[in-house]
Amino acid sequence: MQKIFAVKGNIIFTKEFGKYEIFENGYIVVRGKSIIGVYKELTEEYREIRVEDHGDSLIIPGFVDLHLHAPQFGNLGLGLDKELMPWLEAYTFPEEAKFSDVDYARKVYSAFIRELWKNGTTRACVFATIHKNSSKLLMEMFAEAGLSAFVGKVNMNRNSPEFLIETTEDSINDTREILEEYSKKYDLVKPIITPRFVPTCNMELLKALGDLAKEFNVPVQSHLSENQGEISFVKELHPESRNYANVYEEAGLFGQTPTVMAHCVLVDEDEIELMAKNKVFVAHSPNSNCNLSSGIAPIRRLISRGVPVGLASDISGGHSTSMLDVIVNSAQVANLKWIKSHRVEKPFTTAELFYLATKGGGQFFGKVGSFEEGYEFDALVIDDSSLPAFRPLSVEQRLQKFIYTGDGRNIAERYVAGKRVEEPIMY
Ligand code: GUN
Ligand code: FE
Repeated sequence: MQKIFAVKGNIIFTKEFGKYEIFENGYIVVRGKSIIGVYKELTEEYREIRVEDHGDSLIIPGFVDLHLHAPQFGNLGLGLDKELMPWLEAYTFPEEAKFSDVDYARKVYSAFIRELWKNGTTRACVFATIHKNSSKLLMEMFAEAGLSAFVGKVNMNRNSPEFLIETTEDSINDTREILEEYSKKYDLVKPIITPRFVPTCNMELLKALGDLAKEFNVPVQSHLSENQGEISFVKELHPESRNYANVYEEAGLFGQTPTVMAHCVLVDEDEIELMAKNKVFVAHSPNSNCNLSSGIAPIRRLISRGVPVGLASDISGGHSTSMLDVIVNSAQVANLKWIKSHRVEKPFTTAELFYLATKGGGQFFGKVGSFEEGYEFDALVIDDSSLPAFRPLSVEQRLQKFIYTGDGRNIAERYVAGKRVEEPIMY
């Protein structure tokens, strides 16, 4: 028999895009890793179960970061004065090259995982580097921490510096080795196929990765149409393709298994249609898009066309690991887009962005990011008593104040798949 327990507090979540479900002083009943239901009062059958009473605190779903680069954590807040391609050359590739050393990887990755824990990110879709051993280490460290992640060993076999490139053969063999070892090893930590992006992977490699995704039935993550310079380069490399997304599609990497593409700032109509048809997720990373002068992604339009969307920090293009910062910046860039589009592309409400940061991205992981029946119980207990309020606030207002003015210090507890997660050990 799996253990049943309940958590009690001011529960707030979004079952539908933009619509809060609120249970003041309510109960979430959990069996094993999943939610049985949310109740205003505990019914007779649950009278005897253990209740964790969180008093006046808020209880919200854990945050989902749908795209970030663990090895770029050491560069956080640095080198944000270039656009994408020169930024990669100048700052990012030299830093990632250091992860051939697993001791360096252990140091950075343990601090990185602790940072996610601190900020209430319970699920993450993570790029490692091309290095097999430090990629495996990152998976082990996530598993040990009790946080959930897709972790991708990155593939790069062209247009990369000699200190950060693989042969096609090594790239495929190392990826296969990780898939064989990790596809079934952990429940909460899984491998994901991770071609860095079209400029650094030739068609032979992309196709081999598409085949591996299918063979092991694993998801895919990459970058798409982030920056003008990048898109021009892809056009030069693939004059035969209709557009950037079409290159991934040709390789079997565009929705044949669950797929998430970071950015999509400059996607054309044809690409949007293909994403909607194949249910390819967008990881919206506005911090990164501002820092690297990429632009503002057409998120309202993508959503209205049926493309699934989640939010992402994209560190270290993004400068913050906090999904609270990402939510706020998503609101701000959408407001600017609203003005720039002559008030056509509507801005977002906090409830809409909260949905994207929880259930929106959570859908990439399965039943994650909501407190509906059958969803995995990922939750944060928010003690907002330190945030100044000079009049009584509703639960909805308290959540908004936490998002805009709170931080990790307001998070009292974290749960992932029904288990409380303690602060990870730093190495
Ligand atoms: N495109 C290819 N690699 C990267 C990366 O590391 N960061 C961002 N933002 N875009 C990329
Ligand atoms: Fe990225």
